[in-house]
Amino acid sequence: MNRVYVKTYGCQMNERDSEAVSSKLRARGYSIVDDEKNADVVLLNTCSVRDQAEQKAIGKAGYLAARKKKTPNFVFGVMGCMAQNHGEDLLDRLPDLDLIVGTQKFHRIPDHLDNIVSTITGLGPSPQTIIDLGDEEDSQNEIREHTPDQLKVSAFVSIMQGCNMNCAFCIVPKTRGEERYRPIEQIVAEVEELVSSGTREVTLLGQIVNAYGRGQIPFFKGKSPFVQLLEAIHEVKSLKRIRFTSPHPVGYGKDLVNAYRELPKLCEYAHLPVQSGSNRILKAMNRPYTKEKFLRIVDSLRESVPDIYLSTDIIVGFPGETETDYEQTKDLFEEVGFEMAFIFKYSIRTGTKAADLADQIPRETKETRNQELLRILEKSSLRRNESLLGSSQQVLVEGPARKGKGQYIGRTRGFRKVIFPGNKRMVGQLLDVKIEEATVTILHGLPTLTKSTLEANSSTV
Ligand code: SAH
Ligand code: F3S
Repeated sequence: MNRVYVKTYGCQMNERDSEAVSSKLRARGYSIVDDEKNADVVLLNTCSVRDQAEQKAIGKAGYLAARKKKTPNFVFGVMGCMAQNHGEDLLDRLPDLDLIVGTQKFHRIPDHLDNIVSTITGLGPSPQTIIDLGDEEDSQNEIREHTPDQLKVSAFVSIMQGCNMNCAFCIVPKTRGEERYRPIEQIVAEVEELVSSGTREVTLLGQIVNAYGRGQIPFFKGKSPFVQLLEAIHEVKSLKRIRFTSPHPVGYGKDLVNAYRELPKLCEYAHLPVQSGSNRILKAMNRPYTKEKFLRIVDSLRESVPDIYLSTDIIVGFPGETETDYEQTKDLFEEVGFEMAFIFKYSIRTGTKAADLADQIPRETKETRNQELLRILEKSSLRRNESLLGSSQQVLVEGPARKGKGQYIGRTRGFRKVIFPGNKRMVGQLLDVKIEEATVTILHGLPTLTKSTLEANSSTV
């Protein structure tokens, strides 16, 4: 009864939560398996941001319920955002669920599983669904364990939980609660530990990561708590790269814009979720900026770091979005020329302000707008990749590529995937790779051993 399979839906925060849960379960004597069929326990870590994500997890849970009918000792549970969003109501559709665990209770899962397992093996009281959904003080400090037996060149580090914004379309404040921050020292200690086990790049995670510490940690010499955290992490020896996600556009103050120049480990990549290019829709979405202000943020980043890579999130078909509103989004999207974007069709989330708005947009209209933006994105992404042909790009080698014998994969500082011939010893190293081929999503190249490669890998940096 001790083989657990964890399936993760949704964002990097969920991936990180699953990793921490797996690590805690291992420490309790469970083994984490990567094949669902061999598992005695399946835990679904779920996403509620769009209906589609919820439907996927519900479909999977239905299938697991059928398995439990045949094998009553099989255990399955739902954790994370969907558990938080629907709670006990999940039992209406899935009466056989063993476990429903919310976003502030991940660390309690080993105890809950122990209880369920002892019940099933006849040592405890009769089986009953365990539901654990409350708020818990300091739960943000519980997402800290990593898997020590596997080298992770690039690792996620959760720095906060929750979001205090109130975007009209978004369920996250309900599922993740209020902003809660981990102390700087604890985050730095986690990064140091990761680096000592071979990690060279960290991505700092939070629902609104550049709001880190607001209202709690004071500004210091004009620097926000988030920039102070970046500076502290930057000091960690042998760490080569820092990234973060997901930020908010208004969190790119002067201090953060300058940090891209002042902190060489901070990669030249900024995610700027704009959501819409229409001021009317931005207002209805309760986003605290106008199109003009957004473009000023883009300009300030590009002025400071001319070759910065920019990505965004866009929602098409927010209630009331007219053709004119959409055209404004399209114009902004073309004008900025993002290298990467997540384009979403608006999805009604019960309990959010936008769910009650009249004038929902037909599905076909959303689909057309979505497709058109995707075509624009392909062009701008390809344009940027083609501009790299013949250049030498610094690549952090992550491991063997999935396809191609002797082929390795890594990313440039701009987060572009590069495939090149390599070997095991290169993993975790920064290599200069000369780019020879470019498609929309991938670059191919050949490593060149230069003085800068040797310097970049020296452990004094
Ligand atoms: N900062 C957060 C953003 C949450 S959701 C994070 O990354 O965790 C990520 C993106 O999903 C948002 O930026 C938005 O573009 C999209 N999104 C959120 N709610 C949505 C909805 N109801 N319908 C469609 N897209 C949505
Ligand atoms: Fe959601 Fe807006 Fe926060 S998109 S996560 S409420 S910044």
